[in-house]
Amino acid sequence: MGVGPAHATAVIAAAGSGERLGAGGPKAFVPLAGRPLLAWSVRAALAAETVGAIVITAPPGREAECWRVAAAEGPSAEITVLAGGLTRADSVRAALAAVSTGIVLVHDAARPLVEPDLFDAVARRLANEAGADAVIAAAPIVDTVKRAGTRRADIDAAGPPIVAGTEDRELLWVAQTPQAFRAERLREVQHRAEADGSLAAATDEAALIEGAGGRVLLEPAPAQNFKVTTGTDLRAAEALLAARDRV
Ligand code: CTP
Ligand code: MG
Repeated sequence: MGVGPAHATAVIAAAGSGERLGAGGPKAFVPLAGRPLLAWSVRAALAAETVGAIVITAPPGREAECWRVAAAEGPSAEITVLAGGLTRADSVRAALAAVSTGIVLVHDAARPLVEPDLFDAVARRLANEAGADAVIAAAPIVDTVKRAGTRRADIDAAGPPIVAGTEDRELLWVAQTPQAFRAERLREVQHRAEADGSLAAATDEAALIEGAGGRVLLEPAPAQNFKVTTGTDLRAAEALLAARDRV
């Protein structure tokens, strides 16, 4: 069994306001190596063999602009844009209503360095692993990680944090996107999380599957597929994409 060409839908979450970047507007439209940031992920998703449709969550009121950015990168018949929600998890939940394929690949527009192969890798592995509920792109941790306290209350206390321990780095991975899911299963866990009030707190969809006891596989991915959060990240992405274009 495999995922045939064009049998998956990529959901691209682009509805955020980009507060930490501080560019004065949503991150999706910030210029990056000659294109709006969103365009890079759309372009990579459309170039993936397994992706036949794209659903983009736009900052509310900016749907038309998102559509123009996306349609400049490929066939408009494959592109749907809808308004995102208050949190990332709400946005992705809204997008699932517009997904009609069995496999969905959730991706953050904020990762413009993603390559088409990574969409295909997570999609194909999920299709081939009957016992898996999700396959997520992730990179092994390279830093030494300290735990500051054992409860949230410990870090909320006044004064500089005190180290409670060092994590075993061999066990730690940094989660990225794309993340591949069976669409029905993802809708089910989103619905459940919404009902019990835990949806908004989920920082990725895999966490919802984990919370429901599901099986999530890690797909090794390059650290270069990082999330653009700050101005430093944007400058790094700019340099890497400009170099890629020169090749
Ligand atoms: N996102 C979304 N809907 C939201 C919030 C975020 O679709 N309500 C998307 C963002 O557009 C981004 C991805 O989720 O592509 C990851 O979010 P993040 O990096 O936090 O982006 P922003 O929320 O835009 O940035 P910030 O948190 O600094 O405001
Ligand atoms: Mg955010």
